[in-house]
Amino acid sequence: MSTIRWGILSTGRIANTFAQGLEVLSDQRVAAVGSRSLASAERMADAYGARAHGSYEELAADPEVDAIYVATPHSRHMEDTLLCLDAGKPVLCEKPLALNEAQGRRMIDRARERGVFLMEAMWTRFNPVTARVRQLIASGAIGEVRSITGDFGFRGEFDPSGRLFDPHLAGGSLLDVGVYCVAYASMIYGDEPEAIVALDDRGSTGIDEQCAWIQRHAGGRMANLSSAVRTDTAQQMVICGTKGMIVVPRFFYADRLVLNGVEEAIPLEGNAYHYQAIEVQRCLAEGLLESPVISHEESLAILRTMDRIRAELGLCYPGE
Ligand SMILES: NC(=O)c1ccc[n+]([C@@H]2O[C@H](COP(=O)([O-])OP(=O)(O)OC[C@H]3O[C@@H](n4cnc5c(N)ncnc54)[C@H](OP(=O)(O)O)[C@@H]3O)[C@@H](O)[C@H]2O)c1
Repeated sequence: MSTIRWGILSTGRIANTFAQGLEVLSDQRVAAVGSRSLASAERMADAYGARAHGSYEELAADPEVDAIYVATPHSRHMEDTLLCLDAGKPVLCEKPLALNEAQGRRMIDRARERGVFLMEAMWTRFNPVTARVRQLIASGAIGEVRSITGDFGFRGEFDPSGRLFDPHLAGGSLLDVGVYCVAYASMIYGDEPEAIVALDDRGSTGIDEQCAWIQRHAGGRMANLSSAVRTDTAQQMVICGTKGMIVVPRFFYADRLVLNGVEEAIPLEGNAYHYQAIEVQRCLAEGLLESPVISHEESLAILRTMDRIRAELGLCYPGE
């Protein structure tokens, strides 16, 4: 597939950011926008010269759409992704892939049954700084990695019915931003933790406003990770090996790293959300059903780890 005509499923904050991100690519564009509200779809579609659909079903059925970006709250990722897969549309689904492993498994099973591409939009994975971190570690630049310390917290405005705080929308810091920390440790260590301990600060709506957990991986490799939706934190990743250390400031949106005290800047193109779209395009062109960079099995492993952290916390979502 040489060009991608994207369908954007939802008109929320990140849907717009992703759509803007595509503007640096000459062979990918927003072709259609689907929303629960036609007026909202029209507003966003107008900005991109795209078609508007007043329902997600109409978007999924649009024959002039090659792939769909699902950007709804976590509680809807499964339902919206299944809708698109059933319509034969490749899907890039926002993180976390699903609310829990069981849902993620259903989505992946469906993608495989239908022979349709599915990828979690773990966009940090495609950031050039992340690629450089992987390369440095693989080349032995810091020896064997023994410890990872990472945090991703921000002070979101408290809105009990908003996506971040409403348990019915699967809000909470772990699923919203902690997932980046879990995914980073998964990328560096390449396996699932053998043991986890976790603590959280449960807010008034019943979701984790702060969460901290320690993962121990085989051979005593450790990860100390945390997330927050009511507190700004350093948002950095520190990767320590037997021969040195890499610090990645603002690791989820990084434009530099510090290797043993020496800074290396890697400028980002555009708003950096298009890197994942390039990977989708590459996978579709090669006829792949998943990306090797964030595979189905790894998305499931990330969900399993988050399920284990939530089990430690005693944190369930309605209907689970
Ligand atoms: N990659 C990143 O950097 C990044 C950043 C932020 C968020 N995200 C992820 O992107 C997804 C959406 O986050 P967001 O911040 O864009 O959320 P948002 O601004 O609240 O938008 C969510 C959209 O989902 C649709 N929706 C469908 N059912 C809904 C419901 N019951 N309640 C609220 N909205 C509903 C709405 O679109 P319509 O009204 O048009 O149907 C809404 O605009 C989440 O999975 C989140 O984790 C990723």
